[in-house]
Amino acid sequence: MSGFDIAEAARLHALAFEPAERWGEDAIRLMLEMPGAFGVLRDGSGFILCRVAADEAEILTLAVAPDARRKGVGGALLAEAMAGAVVRGAGAMFLEVSERNEAARALYAAARFSTVGRRRRYYADGADAVVMRRGLET
Ligand SMILES: CC(C)(COP(=O)(O)OP(=O)(O)OC[C@H]1O[C@@H](n2cnc3c(N)ncnc32)[C@H](O)[C@@H]1OP(=O)(O)O)[C@@H](O)C(=O)NCCC(=O)NCCS
Repeated sequence: MSGFDIAEAARLHALAFEPAERWGEDAIRLMLEMPGAFGVLRDGSGFILCRVAADEAEILTLAVAPDARRKGVGGALLAEAMAGAVVRGAGAMFLEVSERNEAARALYAAARFSTVGRRRRYYADGADAVVMRRGLET
């Protein structure tokens, strides 16, 4: 995809996630090459990757650098991803988040995502994944 700085995204991902969860440039490139995938990047602060398949969108990752947090960047990236998903024909957006990730769960709840499922012991640390969904009608 043109205009998306993969090296900057990998740098931000490394700042935002623990070493075991980091995605390098190759992983990010592979994600963006999937059909329906797109990304939104804010240089120096954060990015989001999303994929639309049929009429459903999925968030693949969302990363905000620690020194850029609690300034609305995550919410703005999420809003841009939702708008991009609507343009690509999605009627709903899904994501998975660790039950232990209080910041992300609060962000998604504030953005009107609801819990629709749970994947037991989904993450390497034994945490469950919470599956969340939001309709994209308005
Ligand atoms: C989760 C993350 C993306 C949030 O990004 P952010 O830019 O700080 O989020 P915003 O500033 O847009 O926050 C929007 C709202 O989310 C909630 N929120 C965000 N971080 C929070 C925290 N640490 N504790 C409680 N609520 C939080 C608040 O309601 C906040 O609104 P407010 O600041 O007016 O109270 C960021 O913390 C991050 O990159 N974490 C590490 C990677 C990660 O967990 N990604 C998501 C994986 S599913």
